[in-house]
Amino acid sequence: MSEHIHVSVAWPYANGDLHIGHLAGAYLPADIFARYHRLKGNRVLMVSGSDTHGTPITVEADSKGLTPRQVFEHYHHRFLETQKEIGISYDLFTHTDTENHHRIAQDFFLHLHRAGYLYKEIQKQLYSTSEKRFLPDRYVEGTCPKCGYGEARGDQCDNCGSLLDATELIDPRSKIDGSKPEVRETEHFFFDLPAFSERLLAYLDDHAHHWRPNVVNFVRNFIQAGLKGRPVTRDIEWGIRVPLEGWNEKRIYVWFEAVMGYFTASVEWAHNIGEPEAWKDWWYNPDAKIYNFIGKDNIPFHTLFWPAELIGVERIYEDDETKRLTLPFDVPANEFMNVEGAQFSKSRSWAIWLPDILRRYQPDAIRYYVSVAMPETRDSDFSWDDFLHRTNDELVATWGNLVHRVLSFTYKHWDGRVPEPGELRAEDSKLIAEVEAGFERVGSLLEAVKLRAALNEAMGLARAVNGYLDRSPWFGVIKEDREAAAKTVYTALRAIDSIKTLLAPWLPFSSETLHRLLGHEGRLFGEQRMERFQEEESAHEALVYDNAKAEGRWAPSDLRPGQPLQAPKPLFQKLDDEVVAQERDRLGKPVEG
Ligand code: MF3
Ligand code: ZN
Repeated sequence: MSEHIHVSVAWPYANGDLHIGHLAGAYLPADIFARYHRLKGNRVLMVSGSDTHGTPITVEADSKGLTPRQVFEHYHHRFLETQKEIGISYDLFTHTDTENHHRIAQDFFLHLHRAGYLYKEIQKQLYSTSEKRFLPDRYVEGTCPKCGYGEARGDQCDNCGSLLDATELIDPRSKIDGSKPEVRETEHFFFDLPAFSERLLAYLDDHAHHWRPNVVNFVRNFIQAGLKGRPVTRDIEWGIRVPLEGWNEKRIYVWFEAVMGYFTASVEWAHNIGEPEAWKDWWYNPDAKIYNFIGKDNIPFHTLFWPAELIGVERIYEDDETKRLTLPFDVPANEFMNVEGAQFSKSRSWAIWLPDILRRYQPDAIRYYVSVAMPETRDSDFSWDDFLHRTNDELVATWGNLVHRVLSFTYKHWDGRVPEPGELRAEDSKLIAEVEAGFERVGSLLEAVKLRAALNEAMGLARAVNGYLDRSPWFGVIKEDREAAAKTVYTALRAIDSIKTLLAPWLPFSSETLHRLLGHEGRLFGEQRMERFQEEESAHEALVYDNAKAEGRWAPSDLRPGQPLQAPKPLFQKLDDEVVAQERDRLGKPVEG
């Protein structure tokens, strides 16, 4: 029975290019996971988009003298290009300024309001007398009341992860002009999170056994410390209007609506493919599994806010009263990936920007390294020296060279065809069996979102093939014992063909190429493309994926003797030692274009 898997990927703020931290934190693990499930034959819906609202966008617009729309459209377009190049296979990557998202987010808001989960409260808010307006949280900086960190933002402390109210900051200062803001009163809607405490704890208890311990601990502590109502409207111009009379001036808080994107994008996707109800297969299906791939700074919004919103709404665009919206099944949050031992910093240009490195390195090489160094259980580090070695010693030496040696040798000596092996020897069958067992082992690790361990397992099989070739007659004996050589080569080809599939979630480009070199018809994966969608009054660009072709290929090689191969070519480029110094030199300096 095929399963319904929803891959909900954190929506990047469209205020700057994508960097290695985005890739390692959420997009790459999500993509690996989605590709695996597609190969497995499951129905996958993977969505995300640009987060276009909120102060991260307006701060950038202000600093560049642009409108928020100009800022987000620019970066949104770049997100599409970058993610297509590195192969993040969204079924839909849209953005939050679509008419579809606005309408549904407002409907969610109204449902929660009607159900009594939104209440009004006069709030104290920081007001800038020099700018004559309320200062959004992100426009304020100060000392964290929880940990004493001096540069906490008004909404969250990046040092201890606490969510903050700007008025809690010690010694607040305006980020615009450094002036000291004053406290004034303003009315807002608050989301009644405490009303969900028990249901959230029950939800956590139900899921804790398969969640990552860091996520479970974070959430449990958070709930036990006592949930507070959170304001979900803002005194700003840029954002989604509060759909209630008299509230025209206020906007919905960006986090409150961005998480709804997982739902709204699913609806948009269904509409785009001409099956407007198709989203229900995930959102009203108790057996569907929804996975939220996010970085650790997003944990509270995905484990508390978003489930509470879904619980509070209960049901929307559905008449059947027994139905309930599906809650996330897992929130496999990653930690952070540092760069050469230091934390990412946009202002200090301490970053590895994806559009930049994609000009110099193969997407699969980047994917491979980020996967072996993936911050699954603790912060990790992108080190260029390590990148060089992992690429050359593992990706190229262990896997690429193995493939190339065997394919070239076969192509040359057996007329470009898979040799007829006759009866296999014990050692041949043993290798084939070991590799075939990999489908179960790698698959179950992938399903548990233990992606590093899964990759290690798959690469272990490539090493096993190398070991087998060292022990078996082939290269040297082709003249004296062609039959023995044929058995060895056939066995190695079968193993390579299987490992190609096992590695495909990580290495989709080279696996696709290898699939063709091995003479297979069809493709492992569907294709990604950019498309323009027209709404009633506006249009937007999005990334879409045609996944119809990927189904059910998570299976051992069925390579037939006699199958014609294609002329082999190396899958990967070996890197020069010099890149380490060159890349280190680039750090801390702004990159162009
Ligand atoms: N834009 C947020 C960030 O970059 C992530 C939003 S995830 C969402 O941290 F689900 F809320 F959209
Ligand atoms: Zn703090």
